[in-house]
Amino acid sequence: MFYPHGLNAELAAEVKKNVHIPVAVVGAISDPEKAEEIIASGKADVVEMARALIVDPFFPTKVKEGRDEDIRKCMRCHVCFDTIINTRDTACALNPVIGEEELYFSPPAPPAKLKKVLIAGGGPGGMQAALSAAERGHEVILCEASSKLGGQILCEAHVDFKKNYYGFSQWLIHQLKKHDNVEIRLDTKVDSKLVEEIMPDSLICAIGDCVRPGKAMTAVHHGHYAALDL
Ligand SMILES: Cc1cc2nc3c(=O)[nH]c(=O)nc-3n(C[C@H](O)[C@H](O)[C@H](O)COP(=O)(O)O)c2cc1C
Repeated sequence: MFYPHGLNAELAAEVKKNVHIPVAVVGAISDPEKAEEIIASGKADVVEMARALIVDPFFPTKVKEGRDEDIRKCMRCHVCFDTIINTRDTACALNPVIGEEELYFSPPAPPAKLKKVLIAGGGPGGMQAALSAAERGHEVILCEASSKLGGQILCEAHVDFKKNYYGFSQWLIHQLKKHDNVEIRLDTKVDSKLVEEIMPDSLICAIGDCVRPGKAMTAVHHGHYAALDL
């Protein structure tokens, strides 16, 4: 995370000067622009990605379809590597489905009843809960007490090496805006009066200090699994 993006491209360029076969480069290539820049500059013939394809296995398809803004980008936290070393399984801090890839192809059965879901907290957990609930067809009202979505990730906005972490909050906002069944209310605290007014079927509390037992590991995972439980 602390190294520059695409840090091995200069080394690949040196290798290329000395061999007459195609040269591939790997290492911290997490966005299509960087990949394109390396190929276009002739520093390498092929770019390879590991973590970028773990967080979003559909990265290449999205690029081909001109949907770069839909790519869930790797923040290079290394949770995937740590998990595989410690558990022989893999996981991703930003994508709760990783390690359970069969869910991409056979998602859980649709909910028996579509619900009105009120979510308190517009940080990564609340936003992922809203996204997962909306994708399953529920009607979602996402409330954030402050004037901005993003929660604790917002403090990373100006930290250069965390730009993909901050970018993840913006990715979630972008995805939420695509769903007609998500209403976002900023400057809105969830209190008993609001709950009585909205009368939701379910309330998800994502205010930053909630722990849901089980396999969840980050706020993003907590939010996703809370939505699957609805
Ligand atoms: C979960 C995981 C498992 C990896 N396993 C191996 C491995 O078995 N052998 C190896 O040479 N590199 C392994 N790597 C390193 C990657 O091949 C790659 O060189 C490295 O992650 C840097 O590329 P990236 O920034 O695109 O992730 C692994 C990386 C990850 C994230």
